[in-house]
Amino acid sequence: MNFEAYNPTRLVFGAGSLAKLGEIASKYGKKALIVTGGNSVKRSGVFDRAMESLKAAGVSAVECSGIEPNPRITSVKRGADIARKENCDVVIALGGGSAMDASKVIAAAALYDGDPWNLIAHGQENWAIPTQALPVITVPTLAATGSEMNCGAVISNDETKVKSFVSTECLFPKVALVDPELTLTVPKDQTAYGVCDIITHVTEGYFNGVDGTPIQDRFAEGVIINAIEWGKKAVADGTDLEARAQVQWASIVALNGWVQAGVHMVPPVHMIEHALSAHHDITHGAGLAIVNPAWMRFAAKSRPERFAQFAQRVFGLTPDGKDDLTLAMEGINAYVLFLKEIGCPTTLAEVGIGDELFEQYAKDAALVVHDEEGNLLGRPPMNEKDIVEVLR
Ligand code: NZQ
Ligand code: ZN
Repeated sequence: MNFEAYNPTRLVFGAGSLAKLGEIASKYGKKALIVTGGNSVKRSGVFDRAMESLKAAGVSAVECSGIEPNPRITSVKRGADIARKENCDVVIALGGGSAMDASKVIAAAALYDGDPWNLIAHGQENWAIPTQALPVITVPTLAATGSEMNCGAVISNDETKVKSFVSTECLFPKVALVDPELTLTVPKDQTAYGVCDIITHVTEGYFNGVDGTPIQDRFAEGVIINAIEWGKKAVADGTDLEARAQVQWASIVALNGWVQAGVHMVPPVHMIEHALSAHHDITHGAGLAIVNPAWMRFAAKSRPERFAQFAQRVFGLTPDGKDDLTLAMEGINAYVLFLKEIGCPTTLAEVGIGDELFEQYAKDAALVVHDEEGNLLGRPPMNEKDIVEVLR
């Protein structure tokens, strides 16, 4: 095994920790840009509590609200303009993955003279990978993406219908201030989609990483088992703070680099889902609930023993003389049952997507993460025909 691991984000975790926001922010400056999504943080009172904490610590704040789910580059530009005009020292993301991702790119775009879309990988010749950014503090209100403690961001371009990512060290948040109480108001459907996102972050590495990672396998299985157990509880009773906290912690470890250390993962399922949500603006986790099982059925054929291991260790299924592929498919069926139980869609028809643009999604999915022949990276690599087969 050869690998490097790095994550400099300080994690402050626990119910009630929102009150520490002002004290933490004051270490990074006197003026903050506070980035929020739609109206959820205002409705819940979280925004006012955040502002009070900042004020008490002598930090003034200007607002960039209205970051849409599947955040757009136009919102990033708007945020960067405010940050520059107001001379903000620090960017505070108060919201879900969308507000957090937008904040990271706003923080980089505020210090970049060109078009912020250059900062996002989208098949251009010269990707302007950010080398500097204003300090970012993430305060997640939804457990899903893990954006709170990683250096990735996913941004959409509504004009070109491309949704793509940037991932680089200067985008690591300085602090992830994670207060699971803030997730108590997340509706059932978004809670379930978040759980699906968490699990998919782990399965991407589990199924698309290198061989010979027994410790990472057990980490991955542990995160999935717990996300299933506590995810069901959080969906059944949104006021269950213990369940909310466990799901939030799962979201962090699922994509802060630890479970993936040494795995060298590539995320084909995410690339396919991003192509779908770029065109249809569906919720990321819901898209994953549809694509991941279909992809698993496809990939299990070339590596049945890996999927049979998943069936046994995650769902406790027993071989009973069955071959690996049969056991693998039973494991995938058990996963689909779980997704349905928590209320996730599992077919494109359920989210109103037809087959008219399948070839286009297949092209878009392989736009950035591809091998020399243009195949979408993964185990196995996929050509356009394979991707269309999975979508069908
Ligand atoms: O916009 P508001 O009003 O805040 O409402 C949001 C939104 O409608 C609502 N919500 C969030 N917190 C809430 C709440 N409603 C009630 N109470 C609360 N406490 O939930 C809805 C979805 O929010 P959003 O931020 O869009 O969801 P999520 O956290 O799932 O983020 C999705 C985005 O992150 C990207 C996705 O592609 C998508 O664009 N991803 C980012 C990753 C990363 N940076 O590492 C990795 C992921 O794989 C993913 O691709
Ligand atoms: Zn995801």
